[in-house]
Amino acid sequence: MKLSVALDLEKDIDNLNLVKQLKGFPIWIKIGLRTYIRDGRNIIDEVKNIDQNLKIFLDLKLYDIPNTMGDASESIADLGIDMFNVHASAGEKAMQEVIKRLNSRKNRPIVLAVTALTSFEENEFYKIYNQSILEKSLAFAEMSYRAGIDGVVSSVFESKNIKEKTSSNFITLTPGIRPFGENRDDQNRIGTIEIAKNNLADFIVVGRPIYQSNDPRGVVEKILIEISK
Ligand code: C5P
Repeated sequence: MKLSVALDLEKDIDNLNLVKQLKGFPIWIKIGLRTYIRDGRNIIDEVKNIDQNLKIFLDLKLYDIPNTMGDASESIADLGIDMFNVHASAGEKAMQEVIKRLNSRKNRPIVLAVTALTSFEENEFYKIYNQSILEKSLAFAEMSYRAGIDGVVSSVFESKNIKEKTSSNFITLTPGIRPFGENRDDQNRIGTIEIAKNNLADFIVVGRPIYQSNDPRGVVEKILIEISK
């Protein structure tokens, strides 16, 4: 299991200070909407300049018509990042188009599809999809798998089921992790590292418990120890 640290801080200088503190760890850095919209493609080079071994997950969650998603995916691949994501609800054709465009490249990034955002609770989710989070996440995962996508973003609670329905090689990345009993913030379906491990998650995403701590390096160190136990 790998750790992806969310780079969601208010200012670019704060993000880069965090990366500097985490230099040398075998981790992934997740660049999300706020950071990418504010800092653009420079942030990718800046992170790599601090430590070129850090892997980059661009969390922009694409959702659009197939051709636009395909075009955007090619531009994202040109940025030299290692992984990005789309919304599974954009549909099978859109996901097929993304994979078709990227498969012609030598070193294509990993592509994940978001099933259900971890901030959803059942009632709110049902109003949109008329299905439970688990049912719909499994359906989205199967659709993404058929489309040739490499894995999904889901809560830890769906991860194992998703692998059973698709393949053990189908990647699961699980946000909403509160490693040491921290505040849940706006997340609803939160889990610990142990739950993530039991549910065979390939990646965990941790943001606020790391960057809001007084000792981000210490928290990351503790998380990596927990992962390797
Ligand atoms: O601070 P926290 O650990 O809750 O950060 C979780 C990160 O994962 C945020 O950047 C959020 O945008 C992202 N994310 C999520 N749920 C998803 C997909 C991404 O929380 N389904």
